[in-house]
Amino acid sequence: MNIILLGPPGAGKGTQAGILVKQRGMLQLSTGDMLRAARSSGTEMGQRVAGVMDRGELVTDEIVIGLIDEALDGARGGGGVIFDGFPRTLAQADALAGLLTRKGLSLDAVIELRVDDDALVDRITGRFSCGDCGAVYHDRTRPTQVDGVCDSCGSTNLKRRADDTEESLRQRLMEYYKKTSPLVGYYHAHGQLAVVNGLAPMAEVEAAISAALKPALQTAGDS
Ligand code: AP5
Repeated sequence: MNIILLGPPGAGKGTQAGILVKQRGMLQLSTGDMLRAARSSGTEMGQRVAGVMDRGELVTDEIVIGLIDEALDGARGGGGVIFDGFPRTLAQADALAGLLTRKGLSLDAVIELRVDDDALVDRITGRFSCGDCGAVYHDRTRPTQVDGVCDSCGSTNLKRRADDTEESLRQRLMEYYKKTSPLVGYYHAHGQLAVVNGLAPMAEVEAAISAALKPALQTAGDS
């Protein structure tokens, strides 16, 4: 089963993708994580996108489509793929459809995590994550059990993202409404969209996603 998690910055895409990975053995393909990895390893592409990301703008379609194309080649078998933060433009959505067809794969569901902008400032400015295993936390709603130590892997390498500022968030939201939100209509028209209330507590969001995925699981013959 291959699915897309759609929603603005801070909607909870990465958090819920992490849960699906643990529960269902799915593979999370996050273009944000791939771009950040390229930045920290200092590749030429990583250096080119650094400023764009810090300003909260979108990286070119060509770069992210290339990343997904490559990642999908290593994503055969297992519990399927979660596209987290991709696609983000209509051109990326069309390209994804083409890539999946070419690779003999299907798109089984698109989950939109719907949230209010007001909640996002708190979520984004309070977020930190583990630099080693990628587990995502929040100062107030999801702190680590031991201060400064990752619950999942025990690392003390906890970090905040350079683009998690109010200023960058404003730009990221603008980009979302201008370029990404049309995908809601696009996938609705394809009969693939399920809407989940992303403002609910994490466990409720998780349960709502599970319920929304049931029809897709049955179709994929995996329930
Ligand atoms: P990316 O890394 O994809 O960031 P984003 O889409 O802005 O989303 P976030 O990772 O900020 O939020 P999330 O929805 O995953 O929320 P999370 O689960 O962490 O992209 C970064 C940049 O890369 C882009 O700006 C762009 O420049 C570039 N880029 C990436 N993909 C691209 C593409 N396809 N095309 C072009 N450019 C691209 O949760 C946030 C916080 O809230 C956490 O602290 C969490 O603990 C907390 N939280 C989560 N759920 C709940 C809940 N239910 N209740 C309370 N708190 C919660």
